[in-house]
Amino acid sequence: MTIQWFPGHMTRARRQIEEKLKLIDLAIELLDARLPDSSRNPMIGEILGGKPRLVLLNKSDLADPAATERWVEKLAADHIKVLPIDANAGTNVRDILPRAKELMAPKFEAWRKKGMEPRPIRTLIVGIPNVGKSTLINRLAGRHVAATGDRPGVTKGQQWIKVGKEMDLLDTPGILWPKFEDPQVGFRLAATGAIRDEILHSEDVAFFLAKYLCTHYPSVFQERYGIDELPEDLDNPHEVVGLLEAIGKRRGAIMSGGKINLSKASDVFLHDLRTGKLGRISLELPADAP
Ligand code: G4P
Repeated sequence: MTIQWFPGHMTRARRQIEEKLKLIDLAIELLDARLPDSSRNPMIGEILGGKPRLVLLNKSDLADPAATERWVEKLAADHIKVLPIDANAGTNVRDILPRAKELMAPKFEAWRKKGMEPRPIRTLIVGIPNVGKSTLINRLAGRHVAATGDRPGVTKGQQWIKVGKEMDLLDTPGILWPKFEDPQVGFRLAATGAIRDEILHSEDVAFFLAKYLCTHYPSVFQERYGIDELPEDLDNPHEVVGLLEAIGKRRGAIMSGGKINLSKASDVFLHDLRTGKLGRISLELPADAP
């Protein structure tokens, strides 16, 4: 479920996270490995204040491994502790606790000095809608506890989930809003399905994606659709639309009279990206990040 964010929603979401922050030692910030910068909340640092933060690049199974490696290097260079994961399959999920403990080391030491007994790390997962928060909560819990598609403004009683003996996790995640100012960010989010197709037209999103893939992953058109001829001039919209029409032609998006149904062709193309049928693709690299 995708939320349309109005200022009231944002204020409410922020207030809810701030309430949860009072209860926790550590925040896990979930980003989409395919677009770590665009899927990051613009105010996250300010919202979390001084809380230790572990960044997880989720859906790494869909991202380009070389790009993910570059993101990990970039974030590590910025002194951010980061781990790529796949919450669906559970890849690297076991490494979350050891990383969390590393981040908590100074706090553990402070507790020890005060003579306090060590206790489980109280943890909150935060991230924008659809990034995989509920999937990760369910995986860490080892059972189904979180309903997918939580909305801000719906307050439920909070409960702690035991993740082994050393971590307690809040059962409801902190829901954050994405960046909106940059239209490129909106298109990247929409391409992955994080923004609903009704908000940005799928034809516009498919147009954006076609141009991006021609530049960064040109071989996908031949591999998936058997298309050899790519636009020579990506600034010529007719050529890019021609490419979408070629996809539509090969995938049966044809109306009566033989005309290509561009809307259907766009949906097919986007669906192929979202389900990994185009291969492992990242939509931004550290160098692209603003
Ligand atoms: P949220 O709580 O942050 O809103 O996200 P949620 O867990 O509901 O996950 C959103 C979609 O992302 C789900 O797909 C989920 O299966 C998928 N997902 C989560 N983690 C991963 C991952 O690591 N890899 C892949 N490939 N997919 C992941 P869905 O159930 O099909 O929902 P939808 O597509 O209908 O939104």
